[in-house]
Amino acid sequence: MENNAKPKLLLVEDDDEIRTQMRWALTGEYDPILVGDRAAAIAAFRLHRPAVVLLDLGLPPEPASPKEGLATLAELLAIDSDAKVVIVSGQGEKTNALQAVGLGAYDFFTKPVEMEELKFLLKRCYQIADLEREYQRVQSLLATETFEDLVGSGPRMQHCFDSIRKVATTDAPVLILGESGTGKEMTARAIHRRSARKDQPFVAINCSAIPENLIESELFGHEKGSFTGAHALRKGRIESAEGGTLFLDEIGEVPLPIQVKLLRFLQEHYIERVGGRQEISVNTRVVAATNADLKKKMADGSFREDLFYRLAVIQINLPALRERDDDTVLLAKTFLQRFGTENRRTGMSFTPEAIRALREHPWPGNVRELQNRVRRAVIMADGKRIGASDLELAADLGTAARTTLREARERVEKELVTDALRRNGGKISGAAADLGVSRPTLYELMDKFGLQKTE
Ligand SMILES: Nc1ncnc2c1ncn2[C@@H]1O[C@H](COP(=O)(O)OP(=O)(O)OP(=O)(O)O)[C@@H](O)[C@H]1O
Ligand SMILES: [Mg+2]
Repeated sequence: MENNAKPKLLLVEDDDEIRTQMRWALTGEYDPILVGDRAAAIAAFRLHRPAVVLLDLGLPPEPASPKEGLATLAELLAIDSDAKVVIVSGQGEKTNALQAVGLGAYDFFTKPVEMEELKFLLKRCYQIADLEREYQRVQSLLATETFEDLVGSGPRMQHCFDSIRKVATTDAPVLILGESGTGKEMTARAIHRRSARKDQPFVAINCSAIPENLIESELFGHEKGSFTGAHALRKGRIESAEGGTLFLDEIGEVPLPIQVKLLRFLQEHYIERVGGRQEISVNTRVVAATNADLKKKMADGSFREDLFYRLAVIQINLPALRERDDDTVLLAKTFLQRFGTENRRTGMSFTPEAIRALREHPWPGNVRELQNRVRRAVIMADGKRIGASDLELAADLGTAARTTLREARERVEKELVTDALRRNGGKISGAAADLGVSRPTLYELMDKFGLQKTE
C-alpha cells in the first residue's frame, strides 16, 4: 500500500525498544515519523503537520524529568493549537501526565503500552481531528459566502460585495438597481454599517408609499402653519438622517417637482423646509434604489436626467436570483437553518427533488420569494424533509425541456400570477404578498401577460 495515503503520526520517543515496538504495531494504519528529542520533533511537526502526536515526557537531555516533554508540548501547541498530542508516560508519572493535559495535551497513556488500547485511542484522535478540520472548512467557506448578512457565493454577488466595500468609505451618492426582492434595502444598510456614519441614523423612506402631496414635507420637513394641518414645526427625513444615511427607496416614483429639490440638496447640501425661509445645512449621505427602468423613465420624461447622473455616479446592480447560479440553494439552506431554529424545528433538510425544483424555478420575486417559500415550508412540512410540494413548487416542468428557458419561465410566472390572483379574489395586495413581489412588479407582470385588473 502507498504510504502517503495513511495519516501521518509523529512519535516523539527516545527509548529504542518502544520505538521499534510502536513502529511495528502502527505502520499498518499510519505513516509514523519517529524522532527522539525536542528539536527534531518541532522540525518534523512543521514539515509534516500530523494531526496527532504521541509524546514521551522524559526526553534527553534530562530523560528522568518531564521538563523537556512539557516544553515540547508547549511548542507544538504554539504552532498548531488544534494538534492532538497524546502523552505517553511511565507508571509513577501520572501527575506529570495530568499536568500535561492541563497544558493542552489531548489525553495520556501509561507504559507499558497496551497496543490495542493505544490504537483505539489514536483512532478517536484522528476522527476528532477530521471533524474539527471539516468544521473549520465549512466555517471559512461560510465566511466568504456572507458579507454583512448578505449571502452570495457566485462571482456576481462577490462583485457586489466588493462595490459595497469600496463605496462605503466615501460620501458619494449610490444608486442600487435590481428587481424586486433582490436585496436592495439590505445592500443600503450594509453600505451604512460599513461607513464612518454607522453610529449615526439610517433613515429609510419608501417614495412610492407616500401620497404625492405629502412627499415634500416628509423629505424636507415643514414650518409651523405652512399648510393646513401643519400644527407644529416638523423636521423631514433628510434632516433626521443628519450625519448618517438616507435610503430613498423606489426613487423612480418621486414626482418631478420633488426631483428638482432633491437635486439641489444633492448638489448644495442645503435644504429648505416647506414654508420655511432659511436654508438649513445638512450632512446626509444618500443611497437610492429602484426596480424601475430609469432609462425608460428618462426617455418618457418622468425622471430627470440631471438627477439620474447625480445619483448614478456609483451604481450597484444586484443580479436577479435566477442569474446567481448556486446561490439559490445556498440561500435556501441558510433560510432553512434560520427558520428551523426560530420555529424549534432543527435538523430539517431538502429532498433532491426540492433542490431540483429550487434550481429550476424562475424566482420572479427573487430572494424575498425564496425566503417566504422556505419560511412557509418549515411551518407546513410534516416531517424533517422538505419536498418540492412543501415549497409549493412544481416538481417537474414536464415539457419544459423542449421549450426555451425564457418560455418555461414565463409560463410558470403566468401560472403563479394567475393562481395568486384567483386565490386572492383579484386583490392586488394579497396576491403580491403571496408571490413575494411588490405591487408595481405584480402590475408589470399582469401587463406582460395581459391579465385583467379587477381591483
Ligand atoms: N443576499 C441575501 N442574503 C440573505 N438575505 C437576503 C439577501 N438578499 C435579500 N435578502 C432578504 O430578502 C428579503 C428582501 O430583501 P430586500 O428588502 O433588501 O430587497 P429589495 O430589493 O429591497 O426588495 P423590494 O424591491 O421588494 O423592496 C429581505 O428579507 C432580506 O433579508
Ligand atoms: Mg426594498
